[in-house]
Amino acid sequence: MSKKLITFKNIPLSNSLLSSKQEDVELFDLTIGFDEKTKLVSLINNVSPEKLFPDDYVYDSSQSKTMVKHFKECAESLQKRFNPYSVLEIGSNSGIFIRHFNPDNTIAVEPCSNFAEITNDMEYKTYDDFWEKDLSELIRQEHGKMDVIFSANTISHIQGLDECLTSVKKCLNEDGVFVVECPSLLELLRENAFDQFYHEHQSYFSMIAFRNLLERNGLKLFDIELKPVHGGTYRFFICNENSSIDVNHKNIDKWEDEEKQFGVDSYEKLKDRMSIMKENMIDIKNTLEKIKSENKTVIGYGASAKFIQVSNMCNLNDSLIDYAIDTTPNKQNKFIPKSNIPIKKYDEDSLENVDYCFLGAWNFLSEIIEKEDKFLRSGGKFITHIPKLRIIEL
Ligand code: TMP
Repeated sequence: MSKKLITFKNIPLSNSLLSSKQEDVELFDLTIGFDEKTKLVSLINNVSPEKLFPDDYVYDSSQSKTMVKHFKECAESLQKRFNPYSVLEIGSNSGIFIRHFNPDNTIAVEPCSNFAEITNDMEYKTYDDFWEKDLSELIRQEHGKMDVIFSANTISHIQGLDECLTSVKKCLNEDGVFVVECPSLLELLRENAFDQFYHEHQSYFSMIAFRNLLERNGLKLFDIELKPVHGGTYRFFICNENSSIDVNHKNIDKWEDEEKQFGVDSYEKLKDRMSIMKENMIDIKNTLEKIKSENKTVIGYGASAKFIQVSNMCNLNDSLIDYAIDTTPNKQNKFIPKSNIPIKKYDEDSLENVDYCFLGAWNFLSEIIEKEDKFLRSGGKFITHIPKLRIIEL
């Protein structure tokens, strides 16, 4: 039974963009809780996966050069370290990771059929369904057990974690490796990234909580890395509990110490962090009101799910942010639910006559600053709210 940490009232689903301005959208409370037994931070109120991950899902990981590079390097390092013959990816999106493996021995699972179609067309057998027991049994029958099972930013979306993990275990070779990437709760809290809280993100993993869940499902954490993407991402390396793979105790103990010191396993300390986040949210609105009172043009840069959260959690609307721009075709010419901020196509001239860009895609700060050098040199300013509100200018 989870104890409540914070509730954000009346929040729309982060990727359910609208084709026209609408006053009447479906809203849900977003309540984050803490489970004393497993130390897991997760959502208390769930929305059905079919609603969250529809057949016209808009998030495409290939839109950022940083992510393309990240997954290429990840695939190369897994090849080198484990030399797998068979690979399964759970949540393959547009194929950003599997494209580096041989389609003859690589399969994928992706419930959003618009993306499953893309990877099927790339010759990777893709099961257009949610990862659950029946599907895992079908995959084991049709393809046998796997050497590597990979999943990035997906396990934290899954509501039945025990079923998810036992299904992975059943599909994993005796000495196979399960590699999971997900935003680190420790980094989320350090960065005050309250906009990482959204309905798609069912769980916010600390290493301590994730290890507890693995252990109760017959799996063992044997190594861990921290990657800079998405504001700080853990890469967990997992094997069967009886596997002969060496455990990197040094790494695991280091993260355990850091997490304990910060208090990710303590309800009281987590509650304190929530209060800091609330103060930051007030700061964001006050600053934007001040800037807009000077008649400046402010736009959102990157209509990420996080931006959709910030706009609604901080009660921003199109009087404070004129519009947002994004490179993803699926998002363009749509509106953000509730805040009704329009999303326009990004092009080379998008930042002409713009005074401030509010960084919706703050996790790509370096990539964007490099790309928008001309905007900065001509006096343009970026606003980022991570870890605290600040203006970036030359
Ligand atoms: P994400 O943080 O969830 O990956 O979403 C980032 C969003 O920002 C995604 O919709 C793509 C968009 N984006 C741009 O529009 N321009 C950019 O330069 C980058 C890096 C991302």
